[in-house]
Amino acid sequence: MSHPRIQLGVNIDHAATLRQARYRGAHASPHAEPDVVAFTREALAGGADGITVHLREDRRHIQDADVLAIALLPGIRLNLEMACTAAMVEFACRLRPAAVCLVPESREEVTTEGGLDVAGQLTRVRETTRALKAAGIEVSLFIGPDAPQIKAAVAVGAPVVELHTGAFANAWKNPAAETELARLRSACDQAHELGLIVNAGHGINYDNIRAVLTLPHLHELNIGHSIVARSMFTGIRSAVAEMKSHLVRPA
Ligand code: PXP
Repeated sequence: MSHPRIQLGVNIDHAATLRQARYRGAHASPHAEPDVVAFTREALAGGADGITVHLREDRRHIQDADVLAIALLPGIRLNLEMACTAAMVEFACRLRPAAVCLVPESREEVTTEGGLDVAGQLTRVRETTRALKAAGIEVSLFIGPDAPQIKAAVAVGAPVVELHTGAFANAWKNPAAETELARLRSACDQAHELGLIVNAGHGINYDNIRAVLTLPHLHELNIGHSIVARSMFTGIRSAVAEMKSHLVRPA
């Protein structure tokens, strides 16, 4: 399944973060802004191939009602990020988004910090993956670029991995960035050789994207913070279009 372009999944969580900063407890008010659904519509108009939302246990940004409304937008390919919990599996199986990305979750972190420890909880992730696949949902596992985690993703029957680019992004412009990029490169190769679809995300921006694009076998990048931040100057439609213009596979 190799598209000529790398697919762009736009994570719109931080539009909801901004709304919650003023309207926590009143997000359903007609005055609550920004309107996350309208923001999503504009992201799609800018060329987003998919929309990603993370429904966190503490509902700190995206709310259940946001997900339900966004899922109804015409032509949307929704990727729901969620923790491996029974409540979230039930939610996802009722919603049936195109894709679910299983992520680790701890209340203390500002955003998702590490990858999912699939190797350390094979049974739980296998059962979750099985339930979601049975509901017709494509399952992706958000993992660090580590060989044991990639093998574990295959072992639990997940068709897709999203490789965590956070360590690379944090090291960007430092010598360690090359090391992190090399780790990602061999993870991409390994995952591809094992038959997995390879996505990546976390901390990708308009600058480090040129290095990310040197990675092999990428199917989709999920990008949130940088695009939402840029949208404050340009509007989300243009911020998405600009990022999308970069996502061409190197010849
Ligand atoms: N992919 C996953 C699994 C994430 O959890 C996140 C952010 O929480 C992203 C991609 C997007 O990261 P960023 O907002 O840094 O672009």
